Amino acid sequence: MSSTIAVLVGSLRKESYNLKVAKVLAQIAPSSLKLKIIEIGDLPFYNEDIDGATPPAAYTRFRNEIAGCQGVLFVTPEYNRSFPAVIKNALDVGSRPYGKSVWAKKPAAVISVSQGAIGGFGANHHLRQPLVFLDMPTLQQPEAYFGNVAHSFDENGHIVEKSEAFLQQFINAYASWFEKVK
Ligand code: FNR
Repeated sequence: MSSTIAVLVGSLRKESYNLKVAKVLAQIAPSSLKLKIIEIGDLPFYNEDIDGATPPAAYTRFRNEIAGCQGVLFVTPEYNRSFPAVIKNALDVGSRPYGKSVWAKKPAAVISVSQGAIGGFGANHHLRQPLVFLDMPTLQQPEAYFGNVAHSFDENGHIVEKSEAFLQQFINAYASWFEKVK
């Protein structure tokens, strides 16, 4: 039976390269994993005042969806040398109510995707900091910094062979590591 992996995409724009990469990963993932993109753009900014007996419907929907997944894959752009606020907000929402975090023990992986040459290194590493606190074991190797992404899709929107091979190596490594730590 396959394991369902939540995919959190850190860009909300329609033509997002991160979203395109997430979709490629979902297509090429080994059959042991089923990648499911989870909506995070509709989550109100985390606020303890609204997170009482009747939390926002989006919080409840999100928490239930993550709880139903066995692992988490973060596909993140780099905003100002860090990861975007939408991902941090999603992490905060999922970490509450206190003692009921949906993240603990879920094996994670991070891939940063950027049009720049550095491949989102800053975002990739900053994101790993909250994952430590949230008790999410995280794939260490191969590190995945996907730079110059605009050159990785052809005029028909298909990923070029070399980039697909890079993504295949990454998702294969996650799948085999996931089997050991799940
Ligand atoms: C960026 N971008 C960017 N790129 C980068 O490599 N390092 C950075 O620090 C930043 N900073 C940054 C801040 C903000 C507010 C924006 C909107 C953009 C460029 C970014 O990587 C590029 O727009 C990507 O294409 C964003 O990912 P999506 O939307 O294509 O998935």
